[in-house]
Parts: sequence; C-alpha cells; structure tokens
Amino acid sequence: MHLITARTQLSPNVTRLEVVAPRIAEIRQPGQFVIVRRAIGAERIPLTIADADRQAGTIALVIQAVGKSTRELVALLPGGTIQDISGPLGMPTELITAGRALCIGGGVGTAVVHPIAQGLQRRGVQVVSVIGGRSREWVIFEEELRRLGEVLVCTDDGSYGRKGFVTDVAREVLAAGGVDIVYAVGPVPMMRAVANLTRPLNLHTIVSLNPVMVDGTGMCGGCRVSVGGETKFACVDGPEFDGHQVDFDLLWDRLGTYRTQEQHALSLHEEACRVGLKT
Ligand code: NAD
Ligand code: FES
Repeated sequence: MHLITARTQLSPNVTRLEVVAPRIAEIRQPGQFVIVRRAIGAERIPLTIADADRQAGTIALVIQAVGKSTRELVALLPGGTIQDISGPLGMPTELITAGRALCIGGGVGTAVVHPIAQGLQRRGVQVVSVIGGRSREWVIFEEELRRLGEVLVCTDDGSYGRKGFVTDVAREVLAAGGVDIVYAVGPVPMMRAVANLTRPLNLHTIVSLNPVMVDGTGMCGGCRVSVGGETKFACVDGPEFDGHQVDFDLLWDRLGTYRTQEQHALSLHEEACRVGLKT
C-alpha cells in the first residue's frame, strides 16, 4: 500500500498526487514510468514519474482524468492509499551531456517533459522549454520548468502567453538556430507535427509514446508500436523513441481500439456517481 501525502489540482482535469514509494524515488531516471493499480481488481494505469523527492521517499504522479479508472484515482485524497505501484519501468531518456535542448510539452505531456528537463539541466545542458495548453488554466509545470531554464508559454486561445500551438513557437526557436536536440511530449498530432518540423533540419527528436499498456513487462504486446518499420514494445523498448521513425498513424489507430468499451465504463461510472453509489 502506498500512502498519498499531497494532492494538487493542476488544471481542470489534471491532478498531481505525491505518493510514498521510497525505492522508486531512489532509483527512478528521467523517462521512466510506473504502473499503478488503485485497488485489488482495478485497472492498471501507466503514469510517468513526473518528479521524485528522495528524502521524503515520494514520487509525483500526474493524472489526466479522462476515463473511469483515472477519475477514481484522482478522487483519492491525502491519507488515502494506492494498492500497488510497479516500477520504475521503461528505458531512461537518452540525455545529451552538453549543448542546448528544446523541450516541448503539450498539455498534460508537459508533466512528462519535466523529468527530462531536470535530467538535462543536471548534466549542464541549456534547456529551453516551449509549453502550451488550450487556455491559461490548462498550462501546467510552468514554475517547475522555469527553475531549469527559459520557458516560452503559449495557449490555443491566446489567454496566456503567445497565441497558438507549441509548434508555432517551436518553429521560431528552431529558426533562430543553436538547438542540438528536441524532446517533445503531448498529444499524438502534436508530436507528429514536431517531427515534421525537425525532419527537414535533420535534428534528432525524441518523443514519448503512450499506447495502451497492460502488463508493462513486454509480455502482452498491448503497447506495440512501429518505429523505423520494426515492431517495438513501448513498455520495455520505450516509451521514448526517435520521432522521425515513429508510425504515428498506427499509434493513433491503436489508441482508439478500446474507445467504445472505455466510453461504456465511463457511462456506468457516471451513473453510479449520480445515484450516489460512488463519489
Ligand atoms: P491538448 O489537446 O489540450 O493539447 C495540448 C497542446 O498541444 C495544445 O495547446 C497545443 O499547443 C498542442 N497541440 C495540440 N494539437 C496540436 C497539433 N495538431 N499540432 C501542434 N500542436 C498541437 O492536450 P491534452 O488534453 O493535455 O492531452 C491529451 C493527449 O495527450 C491525450 O491524447 C493523451 O493520451 C496524450 N498524452 C500523451 C502522453 C505521452 O507520453 N505522449 C502523456 C500524457 C498524455
Ligand atoms: Fe504488455 Fe508492453 S504493456 S507488452
């Protein structure tokens, strides 16, 4: 059992939980994730380790409440517990050790960019972050990233920072030159758009993929993706891959595989909440 020590609402549907997991806090590396099971029999949910505090023995999990299981998870309060946390899983981020890195975070993907930027900054790399959200209240991890380097913020509606997508601002940073590598995490169309920006520049671009995962150990094949024409398992070979090699169309199709079942589970959950069987 893992105790929840703090809960923060980061945006209308994104919540940060600090959870006691000392061994994971000690050994986690940027890019790695955990699989969380709220209670016995609950769905297994992959979540990036957005931050860790070794002294407190806690890790930070950032959860976007989009379905039944994620809504149940974010309903937990400090003092509550999570049944199991497996990890750290996945390959650590390929971090450069000198130069200048452009880190691009779209929406909740900004939480995934944070540990990458931390790892880069610790190695002496100059970090420039471009982060964006639909509007002001959807921008997350701005303060944390400002501690690590320059941050450029944009919103789709112009309510905060520059008006536009992260790719609009990233295009300008790239045009000014001096970027040695790009890390991009966010919705699939965003990561595809970033890869399309950097391909003609022949600029190494790493993206973090979020396919459906089940076991997280390379056994079930649920998380398979195609990279450079080869099948890879995001849970053990990734979750980060060369953005110029990823088949984003296949990833997008596979992300929709269980949409009907997910919507059905969410409807049942909402009905149970409505009649007071759940909160
Ligand atoms: P969102 O749809 O609100 O988009 C966030 C930002 O991404 C936008 O403000 C914009 O700047 C940029 N963006 C979106 N579409 C774009 C496009 N076509 N071209 C260029 N830029 C674009 O994102 P959200 O609701 O916070 O995130 C939702 C998605 O992110 C989900 O599909 C989720 O699965 C995915 N996600 C991915 C990861 C990962 O590891 N790759 C992690 C968490 C969530
Ligand atoms: Fe089962 Fe990756 S989640 S193989």
